[in-house]
Formats: sequence, C-alpha cells, structure tokens
Amino acid sequence: MLRFNSNQLTPKQIEKRLAIQHLLSLNESLTTTIGSDVLKGLMQILKTLPSRYFYDDRGSELFEQICDLPEYYVTRTETAILQKCASEIVEITGHCELVELGSGSSTKNRLLLNAYQNLDLPLRYLPIDVSAGILKKSAKQLLFNYPTLEINALVGTYELALQQLPKKQLPSRMIAFIGSTLGNLNSQECEIFLSQITQALHSGEYFLLGIDLQKPKPILEAAYNDSQGITAAFNLNILEHINWLYNGDFNTMQFEHQAFYNETENQIEMHLRSLQKQTVKLSDLNLSVNFASDETIMTEISRKFDLATIKQQLSARGLVTQKVWTDENNWVSLLLCQFD
Ligand code: AVJ
Repeated sequence: MLRFNSNQLTPKQIEKRLAIQHLLSLNESLTTTIGSDVLKGLMQILKTLPSRYFYDDRGSELFEQICDLPEYYVTRTETAILQKCASEIVEITGHCELVELGSGSSTKNRLLLNAYQNLDLPLRYLPIDVSAGILKKSAKQLLFNYPTLEINALVGTYELALQQLPKKQLPSRMIAFIGSTLGNLNSQECEIFLSQITQALHSGEYFLLGIDLQKPKPILEAAYNDSQGITAAFNLNILEHINWLYNGDFNTMQFEHQAFYNETENQIEMHLRSLQKQTVKLSDLNLSVNFASDETIMTEISRKFDLATIKQQLSARGLVTQKVWTDENNWVSLLLCQFD
C-alpha cells in the first residue's frame, strides 16, 4: 500500500478543503486596455509608474530580502506586535473567519491562524491575491499544518474580491490588511479603498489594519536606502519588469534609485532618476518617452500615519477602533476595528 508520510497531502485530501476562485470582471477587460496605466504614468509631466509593477518573481524575491534588512524595521516590528496580540484579537472577535488581503508572507497569517486554532472550532481562511501560483502553494502548506483548516482562496484584485466575497460560514468575519500596504495608496485611493472595505463588511464584523507611523526622518530614510543596495535593486527592477511586459528598452544602468521623506506629505517617495538625457521605447505600447537628465519617475509613495488621524478617518466610515497595539518605540501599529 502507498503511504504518504511526506509533508504533502494527497490531491483528494487537498480538494476537500481547498477552493480556488478566479474572479473575473467583464467590465474591466472591456474598458481597460493592457498597459494603459503605464502609458498614462509615463506621459504625465511628473512621470510615475504604478507600484504594483514591482512584484514580478524577482521583485517579490527582493521584497522578501528587504524584510530581512537591518534598516527595514516594518515587517519585523509588525510581526513582533502580532506575536504578542494575536490571542487578544481572538478574544475580541470571537470565533470568526479570516479574510486576508494579499496573502503575501505566511508568517503573519500563521500567527493569527494559531490563535484562532486555539478555540478548537472550525477554522476558515480566505486569502486574496492576484497570483494564483502563490495562493496555491501557500494554501497547500497551510492545509498540511492546520488539519481542521478550510481555505477559500480568491484570485483577483482587492477591489474585485471585496465585491464578491463568498457568504460567511462562521459566526463572524475579520478582514486583515497588514504589512502597511495602505501606505502605498494616496489619500484619494485610500478613501476609495476604505469604502470598499465597509461595503464588504456586515455590521459587527472586524477590520484589522497594520500601519507604519510617523517617526524621525533619518530612521525612515535609512529604511528605504539600505546599505546593501537591496531597495535600489528592488526599485530598478520595475524597469526590467516593464521591459519584459511591453518589449521596452529601459537601461537600468542609466537610472538611479532615490528615496527620501517628504515631510509635508508625511510620505517616503521612491523615484528613479535619469542619469542623462535619453529616449526609451516601449514597442508593444507604441510609446517613446523622453527623459531630461535628472528627470525622475516616481515609483512608490509609502505614507506614514498619525494614530489619531487614521482612527478618526476610520470612524468617519463606521470603522470603530476597538484596540490599538504598538511596539515600544511607537513605530508601527495594528488597529482592530469593528464595523458598526
Ligand atoms: C510592502 C508596500 C509596505 O512601503 O514599505 C519596501 C514596500 N518599498 N521598501 C513599503 C517597500 C521599499 C513596502 N510595502
């Protein structure tokens, strides 16, 4: 008889406990042409590229390396907070299913799953990600480690997934958005995002939010200008990704990483500065872009929040903060909100 004693489940065992839903939007595919966001960003007077283009395979790998950098305190600090407060979160929410925006790194979702598992009740997890590959791989590992876990993975954008969340199967639900990704949205995008969250939640359900707080400029600037140059490589890789997608000829040697804290806007800005006057072609988009020497492309904002302000902004939308956790330096925060 065949015995499966490896760290894998049989396909049949997986099938029973894992559903993967691919979300489609007809509207979107009809109205948005491929690459229109890139086209738009590069044709503006102040050039930009959408931050989501960082994350091809190489970019995701570089981001993992960023999380381990001594200067990049965000991931480490948030994980430490979660380690301490996960059981308190479960005490407040009670038995509930976990929806996670961006299934990303599995260390943090495991801390939450461990805490819910201690209730000895059915365990349900709904990870959302644009990458089906990442979702499937991490789901299989989780099913193996959590014998009572059921997973309903959603492949698609946050926006689509929030519009189409499957019916809740446990007494309550918590949507988790950790990793300080909210900081990548400008204030207008942030408002839209929060309204999508409240449309997805029913009264009494929960929203767990991780944010990076305002702190002295040298600490912030070091976190985005690490001494090993990993963040620089991460930033430049966006050009390689664009080259690959749209048959472009960006030369990464002709651009330089730049990151600084904009104190007026309370945000880190990452740019790529053109080292000389040059023209770049993206053949598949029929686009030719001229750069003056020193002209930049803004590739990311990472907003740093003030607790009082974000709490107010959340409560204006009916998301009432139940509890806030921070580290001893007050660098990073987790907020648990209940939708009223
Ligand atoms: C994953 C978006 C939270 O803004 O700090 C890290 C991405 N960029 N170093 C952040 C990032 C440069 C990161 N987020």
